[in-house]
Amino acid sequence: MKTSLVTTPFATSPQRCIAWFVFAVLLLCAAASGQRTDVNYDEAKVGKYTLPDPLVLQNGERVRDAAAWNKHRRPEILKLFESNVYGRSPGRSKGITFEQFDLDKRALDGKAIRKQVTVYFTGKKKDGPKMDILLYLPAAARKPVPVFLVPSFSGNYRIHSDPGIKLGEEWPRDKKMKVPGDESKRGTNTYFQVEKVLAGGYGLAVIYYCDIEPDFVGGIQFGVRPLFYQPGQTAPAADEWGAIGAWAWGLSRALDYLETDKDVDARRVVLMGHSRLGKTALWAGAQDARFAVVIANGSGEGGAALSRRTYGETVKHLNTNFPHWFCGNYKQFSDHVDELPVDQHMLLALIAPRPVYLGCAEQDQWADPRGEFLSAVAAGPVYRLLGKQGLDTDQMPPQHQPIMHTIGFHYRAGKHEVTTYDWDQFLLFAEKHLGDR
Ligand code: GCU
Repeated sequence: MKTSLVTTPFATSPQRCIAWFVFAVLLLCAAASGQRTDVNYDEAKVGKYTLPDPLVLQNGERVRDAAAWNKHRRPEILKLFESNVYGRSPGRSKGITFEQFDLDKRALDGKAIRKQVTVYFTGKKKDGPKMDILLYLPAAARKPVPVFLVPSFSGNYRIHSDPGIKLGEEWPRDKKMKVPGDESKRGTNTYFQVEKVLAGGYGLAVIYYCDIEPDFVGGIQFGVRPLFYQPGQTAPAADEWGAIGAWAWGLSRALDYLETDKDVDARRVVLMGHSRLGKTALWAGAQDARFAVVIANGSGEGGAALSRRTYGETVKHLNTNFPHWFCGNYKQFSDHVDELPVDQHMLLALIAPRPVYLGCAEQDQWADPRGEFLSAVAAGPVYRLLGKQGLDTDQMPPQHQPIMHTIGFHYRAGKHEVTTYDWDQFLLFAEKHLGDR
């Protein structure tokens, strides 16, 4: 029998044909604007959820004072995040070496001292993964300065046009291999505002996150995680660290270096990360109490945003699109987020009583700014228990009206990036909590 298009439902119903056409156009528009179709952006469809109480132990006992928080609940929550979300990381391994290979006391037209240091994760052998730290310090400083430590998405040489920055190698995600730095890209990463940070009296330390582990499935073989395998082990166990855990571990190693630098006040290191590196900053700050202040910009799902809110990116999206970021056990929660024994407000609570700040943007609904705000609200009781000030409101502030208590938050116009406005708030927040010491 001869079949023809005329026998399909498309052709038999012109209305249906039009409907399909409109649907296809909408899909194409959504794709072109970067919007996804399997995502909820309707507040009315978020649904009901109950957050785990950060101040109730798993055995049901209420945490009534700082001692019980520090001795029982904090370690319990940390362990839950290790086992279920980011995976367990090793501590500092012996034998890591730091080698300073650059010093310019008159960098940036005399405004800065520039140092560059290589961290050899395999110590004296030097043949394993290594990370370069780029450090600028205000030239005028007469005593050790507080420093912003910021992981970068691109090689350090892109954060400023300074020709003295080493043209390090990079790992483009699409190529999945190491390529030489590209001189024409020097200074093109606008997320960094070196002069602004220096003028505020702070130093700026930058690392390229792919020096710790390149960011793609399979990148693990080029990074630090295999250095910790047990004999015969070929992959991390389901409760061992994912790539975010590795990047967070690397940030702690950068802090180890800063502690050895006499020009740095290592008790005043502000850790700031954006997006996946905002997730990383929060996890690093939660584990390593030496970070004095933690700032996460647009950290979204798996960062500051509540996982139980079905809005924007979800745990399932994370596990599907970035299976290497989190630990194996996290996959169990893709369709059962309500069964997670933690939610992300408890990650913020792990940073207490230290100051934590969240930057969010209106056009970054994928990261669920309201979910980040509500997470900060829900971390408040822990801060209050420790004698600090949470956000003290459950009303999301309007745009450009930052809250700067021990928990800080802003919502600004614009998209998913790090802007001058963000840096202005980060510096104010840091100054409020670390200044005049
Ligand atoms: C993706 C991802 C986010 C992440 C972001 C980034 O959008 O879904 O979770 O924060 O990339 O790191 O740029």
